[in-house]
Amino acid sequence: MRPFVLLVASVAALGGLLFGYDTGVISGAILFIANDFGLSTRLQELTISIVLVGCIAGSSVAGLIADRVGRRITLLAAGIIFGAGALGSAFTPSIEVLLAARFVVGIAIGFCSVVAPLYISEVAPADVRGALVSLYQFAITVGILAAFLVDYALAGSQAWRWMLGLALIPSLILIVGMLPLPESPRYLFKIDKVDAAREELRRIAGRDEIGVEETAIVDSLKVQGSGFAALATPAVRYALVLGVALAMLQQLTGINTVIYYGPHIFQLAGIASNEASILATALVGVVNVLLTLVAIFFVDRIGRKPLLYAGCTGMFVALSVLAFAFAQPHLAGSLAAISLVSLMVYVGSFAYSLGPIVWLLISEIFPLQARGLGMSICTLGNWVANLMVSLFFLSMVQALGASLTFAIYAALCIVTIVVVARGVPETKREILEDISLVRGPSLARPEGIP
Ligand code: BGC
Repeated sequence: MRPFVLLVASVAALGGLLFGYDTGVISGAILFIANDFGLSTRLQELTISIVLVGCIAGSSVAGLIADRVGRRITLLAAGIIFGAGALGSAFTPSIEVLLAARFVVGIAIGFCSVVAPLYISEVAPADVRGALVSLYQFAITVGILAAFLVDYALAGSQAWRWMLGLALIPSLILIVGMLPLPESPRYLFKIDKVDAAREELRRIAGRDEIGVEETAIVDSLKVQGSGFAALATPAVRYALVLGVALAMLQQLTGINTVIYYGPHIFQLAGIASNEASILATALVGVVNVLLTLVAIFFVDRIGRKPLLYAGCTGMFVALSVLAFAFAQPHLAGSLAAISLVSLMVYVGSFAYSLGPIVWLLISEIFPLQARGLGMSICTLGNWVANLMVSLFFLSMVQALGASLTFAIYAALCIVTIVVVARGVPETKREILEDISLVRGPSLARPEGIP
């Protein structure tokens, strides 16, 4: 792989690091924030979930902004907003300012969650696109793990301002790193800057001959209308339904019950001490990071669909074991161990399948004119589903019991497998524009293109 492309993707993936850190860090910080400001349960819930509301707001406009001002500027803006949010959180004089700052952080996460995978997939050569977008998911998992570790390390001194403020460091790296990076060549073609677009395409391809890629991009620009008009074509509608379904199922299969409420689940399973349950959650975080490497290595070799089948099956089995174990009173003694193993298998299976590959697919299945907007809508679906699961998880456990709750997530893994089997095209090693030409009548190639 060309070092230049790897560098571009790595800097953009820093958006994932911030995404992971900022969604993960609050779980440990909230205890101390609640103490300092004397928060009611309601206000604690709001402090946790306001980030997700910001993500919903940010992701819903990110695509339009990225189509208007470019991918690069939008990512730079995300870095600046992140930095402002981190500083605001760290120096907040009151809970109101903290809520506002966390909302601002959410907007930046929303931006990154749309534009980082979009930018990476648009600059990546076709044969390594899967690996490079998976690098973004890898950064998310590293961010989550870093947040767990920072929380753990600073818990003794109750330093929640540091926990939230440390996000400033990666946001500065993102800003400084993005400054010299090029705009996506596909975006440059879209806004008619053909010479600059060709130059970037050559740099990325590492060769002068870029005829195949250029023809595919230019032709795809001829086929569809742009923006909302493009969304009306049958092919893009198909991509939209598929993308929103996948993005929502990534959440509805329950991943963030473990990421956000890990210690709580371990306590339900009988691990009494706070330290042990936080440590068990950190262990699950390590598995999350390591198994994402499997996607990076295999997603372009064996393809997206085989990994999705294997991962969703693993998630289904782990959740079913968990549902079964929580329903058997005579297993109470070994529930802690069963939960630890099941959750490691569950998160590990997610890490090489639904985690990276959903972000990858939604960045691949739209034609260029509809890509920013289409990704925005899918990502919005992802954050709305995330908010729903996070808001209702504890009430579901209370109302239905842990066993039935996990059984519902297990059933949704089966739904996901069916959606993958029936709806997902294999996109491994395809030129981006060829993927968007795969399905539906209006996606037929124009005359004269082989
Ligand atoms: C999901 C996040 C989740 C993370 C866990 C991402 O792909 O979108 O909601 O927290 O994976 O690693």
